This record gives sequence, structure tokens and C-alpha cells, in this order.
Amino acid sequence: MSARAIVLAAGKGTRMKSARAKVLHELCGRPMLWWVLEALRAAGVDDIVVVTNPELDPQLAPFGVRTVIQREQLGTGHAVKIALDAIVPDDGCLVVAYGDMPLVDPAIFEDVQAAVDPGAGTALALVTAVMPLPSAFGRIVRTGPSTGSAAADTASGQAVERIVEAKDCTPAQLALDEMNAGIYAYDERALRAAIAQVGNDNAQGEYYLTDTVELLIAAGRRVAPVPVADYRSVLGVNDRVELASAGALLNRRLCETHMRAGVTITDPATTYLEPGLLLATDVTIRPNTVICGATRIGEGTSIGPNSRISDATIGARCDIRESVVTASEVANDVKIGPFAHLRGGSQLADGVRIGNFVELKNAHLAEGVKANHLTYLGDATVGARSNIGAGTITANFDGVRKNRTELGSDVKVGSNSVLVAPVSVGDGAVTGAGAVVNRDVPAGDKVAGVPARSIAKKPAET
Ligand code: UD1
Ligand code: MG
Repeated sequence: MSARAIVLAAGKGTRMKSARAKVLHELCGRPMLWWVLEALRAAGVDDIVVVTNPELDPQLAPFGVRTVIQREQLGTGHAVKIALDAIVPDDGCLVVAYGDMPLVDPAIFEDVQAAVDPGAGTALALVTAVMPLPSAFGRIVRTGPSTGSAAADTASGQAVERIVEAKDCTPAQLALDEMNAGIYAYDERALRAAIAQVGNDNAQGEYYLTDTVELLIAAGRRVAPVPVADYRSVLGVNDRVELASAGALLNRRLCETHMRAGVTITDPATTYLEPGLLLATDVTIRPNTVICGATRIGEGTSIGPNSRISDATIGARCDIRESVVTASEVANDVKIGPFAHLRGGSQLADGVRIGNFVELKNAHLAEGVKANHLTYLGDATVGARSNIGAGTITANFDGVRKNRTELGSDVKVGSNSVLVAPVSVGDGAVTGAGAVVNRDVPAGDKVAGVPARSIAKKPAET
């Protein structure tokens, strides 16, 4: 049977000071909530209900989860109650987590599920973490004096007694450093009984989910703490400072995964990655580089410094420096940059060379084409080995529509040529410096001037 979970995401996230819902703020290119759902799914939990609010709800369609709307945010206990009312009762284990903890990893969800025992003694397993003080997390209050180590306390049977929210703590409780991470595995039947009794007599006037701890214990059930090794994996994000530090940790994790798989990253602190990238072995990423979207990069290719590659497929042994590549395909042994911009729809075959201040859009360049300096190739097809001189422009827009420029193979385009599309230049043709080519040039012809005319020697008349 597949495990079930409730994820709470209805809170206003007021500390973000944003028009955007907190759980939709992004870390490494993915919304905060995406990270939590990914970790749950990786831990085998695939039946997920997200508690949302009326503004957020329509924006959750892409997440592929069932949602339940909490109209008034009366607290985490109230949110769970609303979700429980909406799902068919079950007597198994139910995971509850918050949507604002993007650093959580699948092992934590696996451990907490393994520690609960529906129908038997342990009605709740909850993740705890020892954290530096001060902290706004809820405090874990145990029955006896703490040894200072959550793991040792658990081993020596110091039972969890209750959770006290930071705002309700006495000074002595505020000094406790074992925190409620906000990840729970409940015996669902016991949770349903306890949640009905949760009140709101506390500093925030909210229905706290955390009050179920005391209620379950009073009902004679056990509550098992599941201490986490590194508190950073359960850090909640409540404002933009925490958003940035969580983002940096996630980015570091992505970098480390790729480095362990054989990618050299010169400076992980200034390399920005997203999940789902396919980077082959011996890829090198130099500093200050962003690689995002559905990008794949082949063996031995170097990217950066100061580059952004998004939704691109790059082959093997390429070198891309100080450049931007978007939604394009680059084959093997291609050199790009510095300061080139490949916009959408460009395709570069093996051995192409794109140099300084060259912009491509929807340009298909065959094997060995060179465009080394100051050029715009838009909606163009260029045949093998052709050379595009400095300052060449394809004038692809006639004020109404975009038109294509077709160049054959072994064409030499002189510096400062303007190719006024739609126009074609045949194989082996040459344009002189400064030519404005507004009529098709036959294969092998030489043209020059404004507008360009043939200057090829005609065969002598007989
Ligand atoms: C909560 C815990 C605290 C724990 C901390 C860990 C409670 C009462 N407190 O505090 O013990 O240490 O998380 O990060 O549970 N939400 C709703 N509906 C509501 C209220 C909140 O869906 O009515 C959602 C929020 O969107 C958020 C999550 O529940 O994703 C947690 O709420 P938040 O206000 O961030 O709780 P904390 O104060 O962080
Ligand atoms: Mg929180």
C-alpha cells in the first residue's frame, strides 16, 4: 500500500513580504514546495494532499497533487483537521510535513515512517533537531534532564513530553536546544482522535498541530523522537534571508552530486545549477556560471567563466566562454565566445567557431562554419566551411515578417556585408566588403557594392 501525506502550505508567509505565496518562491529554479514534494515521492509517498489557500490553490495545478483549501489560517492543527476531513479515513501511517522546508531529504521521511507503529504503542514519530540558539522553532520538552544530545536522550529513554512553541516558552524552555523539525508520521486513527481535542489557548490564538503530542501521551500512546543528524536539512524558510541560505545549501548539494560524478566545478559558490541537468564526465564549469533548464552537456566540454546556459544541448569537447546560450543545440568541438549570444533555435554542427560579439537566432550553421566577430545571424542557414566576415548582418525583418537567409557551403562573406532576406548565396560565392546583398547570388559568383552586383570576370566574347 502506498503511503499518504498531508503537506501544509496555506500560511500567508507574511515574513516574506511578497505578493507571491511563500511556497512558490524559488530555490535553484524550483518552487519551495516542489522540493518537499520531490523528497516525499522519493521516499515512496505518492498520495499527497496539500493544504492551500484560495489565492494559492489555482497555482498548484502543475504540481500534480490533490489540494484542500483552508479559507482562514487558524493554525497548523486546523489545517491538518481540514485535510483529514477531506480524505477517506485509513488505519495506516500518515505523514505530515510543512511546505516551507525545502532542504528536507528522502531519508528523513523514510526514517520517520519506520519509527511509527500504527495500531500498537507508538502513535507518533516526530523528527527533532539540535540547533544553535536563539531559534524560533518549537522546543521539544522531555521528561528528564537532557544529556545535551538528542540521540543519547532517546537512547536513555528520556521520553518526549510535549512541544512548546517558541512564543509560549518560559525562559528555561527557550534555553532548550532540541527543536521540533515539523515532520511527523502519525497513526492516522490516533491523529483523528487527538486533532478533535486541540484548542487555541496559546500566545498566538492558533490551533497548534504540536499539541497532539501531549494529547496522544495523555491517551496512553507513545511518541517517538527521530533525531536528525544535521539540523540544516530541516531548516524552515520564513523570510528572504532564510530563502537565500537554503538556496545556497541546495545549490551546494547539486554541485557536490555532479562533482562526485566526475564534473570539475572550479568554484561551487559562484556556480548555479538546477535539478535535472545531465552533465557528462570531465565537464568543467568555471566560476560565475549558471546552467539551468533542460540542459545536457557532453564529455570534456568546458563552460564559463561568466556564462549562462539554459535549455541547451551541448556536445563533447566544446569550449564556451563568457557567453549566453539559450534553447539551442551545439554539436562537438565547437568554440563559442567570449561574449557570444545564442538565442533560441540555433543549431551548430561539429567544429563551428562563434567569436566575440556574435548573436545567433534560429541560425543553422553546418560543419566548420566560422563567424568570429561582430555579427548577427538571424533566421539563417549557413553551409559547411563558410566564413562570415566581421560586421556581417542578416537583415531578417522587413517590417512585417521574418525572412530567411540561405548561404551555401564554402561561401566567403566579406566584412560589413548586409544580407537582406529573403536571399540566398550559392556554394563558393564571395561577397565584397560592405556589400548590401538584396538579390540571390549564384554559386561561384562574386558580388560587391550597394546594392551588390556581380564583379566576376565574364568569359571573353568570341
Ligand atoms: C512550525 C511548528 C514548530 C516547528 C516549525 C518548524 C506548529 C504550531 N509549529 O512553526 O513547532 O518548530 O514549524 O519549521 O506547528 N500553515 C497552514 N495553515 C495554517 C498555519 C500554517 O497551512 O493555518 C502552514 C504554513 O504555510 C507552513 C507550515 O504550515 O508551511 C508551518 O507554519 P509556520 O507558520 O511556518 O509555522 P512555524 O511558526 O514555522
Ligand atoms: Mg515555518
